[in-house]
Amino acid sequence: MKTIIEPFRIKVVEPIRMTTREEREQKMAQADFNPFRLRAEDVLIDLLTDSGTGAMSTRQWAGIMEGDESYAGARSFFRFEAAVRGVFGHRHVIPTHQGRASERLLCAAVVKQGDLIPGNTHFDTTRANIEASHAEALDIPIAEARDPENLHPFKGNIDLDRLAQVLEREHHRVPFVLITVTNNSGGGQPVSMENLRSAKSICQRFGVPLFLDAARFAENAYFIKLREPGFQDKSPREIAKEMFSYSDGALMSMKKDAFGNIGGVISLNSDSWAEKIRTLLILTEGFVTYGGLAGRDLEALAIGLEEVLEEDYLRYRIASTAYVGKHLEAEGVPLLKPFGGHAIYLNGRKFCEHLQDEQLPGWSLSVALYEHAGIRACEIGNVMFGRRKPDGSWQWPALDLVRLAIPRRVYTQSHMDYVVEAIGELYRKRQEIRGLTFVQRHDVLPHFSARFRKV
Ligand code: F0G
Repeated sequence: MKTIIEPFRIKVVEPIRMTTREEREQKMAQADFNPFRLRAEDVLIDLLTDSGTGAMSTRQWAGIMEGDESYAGARSFFRFEAAVRGVFGHRHVIPTHQGRASERLLCAAVVKQGDLIPGNTHFDTTRANIEASHAEALDIPIAEARDPENLHPFKGNIDLDRLAQVLEREHHRVPFVLITVTNNSGGGQPVSMENLRSAKSICQRFGVPLFLDAARFAENAYFIKLREPGFQDKSPREIAKEMFSYSDGALMSMKKDAFGNIGGVISLNSDSWAEKIRTLLILTEGFVTYGGLAGRDLEALAIGLEEVLEEDYLRYRIASTAYVGKHLEAEGVPLLKPFGGHAIYLNGRKFCEHLQDEQLPGWSLSVALYEHAGIRACEIGNVMFGRRKPDGSWQWPALDLVRLAIPRRVYTQSHMDYVVEAIGELYRKRQEIRGLTFVQRHDVLPHFSARFRKV
């Protein structure tokens, strides 16, 4: 059969509320033109993020009832530890409440002022945590990653020559290298096994540990199966295990590929780093066997880690994301290609060619999309990554994207047909999209809180 169906049926439903264009314009103005400030109940289809927004399975909900809420040594922790170790394979498994808690703990434990952390492309919270430790976050993706139309199958790859050069010169101030699978900020693009293997051997040459940001490791594993010679007949679990075998540790936001509504983990081999991290964990997150989570969360995450590696699920996941991309492409909408695993990225600058960078084309598009059809998307571009230089002028990122992140197991194909139709319509009248300018902007993670007005 050519039709790939959702490999589940729906047992519980959550109503969504229809709104009028007038209502939405008013809500958006009240939110100071920042989609993060909207009330979720005013959103029809929420593609702001695929993080923590997935639907749990019947097995996960059953696990919730089984959660052991003991303060120390809970049964749920040992299930969690076994599930993580069964895929990641590292010695120490430390639960945290979400990905950025893992980042903060790792940075606080091992990153010093003046250090340098190279990676393919750091996610925004990762970069912010590195910078909060007065260290430098260096993005060195392959050159192909900078071209939104380039069809390279592994645009998430790190530039190995540059990695070797950087480590040659600077290894004394590099506590670890961090590769994000899939590369979210670079468009949900996968990293190849070959790239991970080579990155590991370069890191090894300089005695620098390699860490993975594993938020979407299962989607990455499936892309390897689809695209990298030699992996067609391997299971996603086998592929994932090989990916982690090249790492000395991993951070994971388990709100993505573990189907958690909350949760994270640090998994690593170093005894001394694990000890430092656990000390900090107890200080601010919780005891070492729950790390800021409830026992029931640990239980659901352990089950989620198994379910995400099921091949039927991953086939559906990657195909249903590509479905949105293919149909938008047929409407002529400028997109980042190849299509990512968890999201389709609109090219904001190309979509809104009539707007200058200062008028925040991607962000303006995300506002227009809500006003037009009640769809909430997330800019990953000028607002998120634009920097003011000391002379007051702006430095804009290479790409100004709008991400349509697709929550896991939540929306059906007709929801996505609506999204495609709405964006197609908006594209045909794109000249009407008005630009925006900042009214208020904080320097740290500005997108969450900034206020705007239309120009
Ligand atoms: N790393 C990656 C690659 C991420 O995508 C995220 C979160 C984090 C780390 C931080 O994890 O949210 O659990 O603290 N990404 C979400 C997103 C927020 O929308 O892409 P967190």
